[in-house]
Amino acid sequence: MSTTLSEVALETAPVNATVTTQVWDLPLRVFHWSLALAVSAAFVTAWLGGDWMRWHVRIGAFILALLLFRLIWGWIGSTHARFASFVPTPKSVIAYLRGKWHGAGHTPLGALSVVVLLIVLAVQIGTGLFANDDIAHQGPLSQTVSKAVTDRASGWHAALSNLLLAWIVIHTAAIGFYAVVRRTDLVSPMLTGKKQLPPQWASVTTSVSVRRVFVAAALSAVLVVAVFTEWRASPAATAVPAATPDW
Ligand code: HEM
Ligand code: HEM
Repeated sequence: MSTTLSEVALETAPVNATVTTQVWDLPLRVFHWSLALAVSAAFVTAWLGGDWMRWHVRIGAFILALLLFRLIWGWIGSTHARFASFVPTPKSVIAYLRGKWHGAGHTPLGALSVVVLLIVLAVQIGTGLFANDDIAHQGPLSQTVSKAVTDRASGWHAALSNLLLAWIVIHTAAIGFYAVVRRTDLVSPMLTGKKQLPPQWASVTTSVSVRRVFVAAALSAVLVVAVFTEWRASPAATAVPAATPDW
């Protein structure tokens, strides 16, 4: 039986050969680590309370900007940052659970957790915008709604923060599970952007243009400024704080 040249090449190629593949673009990585830091700071400032709440609202503005950036980047970012490339379907989740899914970006189960995380985060931010602490701190849009609504938003904001915290714990535990049990390092790619993948799973990634980063960042900044200008314009933001009761 004769052997062709290409068969020889396949036989001699290392079975577990991998290629370095660009998976996460720089803006997505900067988004991720800034978000992790900012959300941690939001928790710490809320737990400290008092004057720290002033910082809580400022950090909240930054988190809002990050989320808006991520939503825009989900449409105009590079391949694996785009929602269209990773939003999971029941079919892709089942295929993954049966070990039949292979790809470069988020796994379908990972993507499901990312989508839930982004939704919980959005509601946390949304309720924060309308919240108030009945003392001196309020979200920038709290004056645009009735007292009953802002109180309800505050209640949801407090309750939902526990769900968000639980989800973050699960998120980091899942990363730890991959590292220890599956021997897959997901953290380095989130730092460097690169993964080692078998050539057949390594897809071509669309490049990132500076213009797109600028458009996404500028749009998010404008929206945040618009929301917070509402706050500055609202009567409560400029009102003299209530006198301390003498009890
Ligand atoms: C407050 C803390 C955190 C938040 C809110 C958070 C949020 C997120 C989000 C939203 C994504 C999806 C990225 C995307 O937009 O496509 C993600 C992915 C990821 N996060 Fe975090 N994260 C946090 C902490 C951490 C920590 C501490 C680690 C490291 C131990 C970590 C490691 C990762 C990794 C490796 C991925 C990519 C997972 C994959 O390969 O599919 N995260 N995180
Ligand atoms: C991921 C982001 C956020 C987290 C984890 C978070 C978490 C919390 C927590 C734990 C509290 C204390 C609730 C309580 O025990 O009463 C709180 C209160 C508050 N937050 Fe946030 N928050 C976030 C984002 C925001 C944003 C974006 C804003 C507005 C810009 C905001 C505005 C407020 C206000 C005004 C309060 C006082 C409400 C109250 O005491 O009932 N937060 N936040």
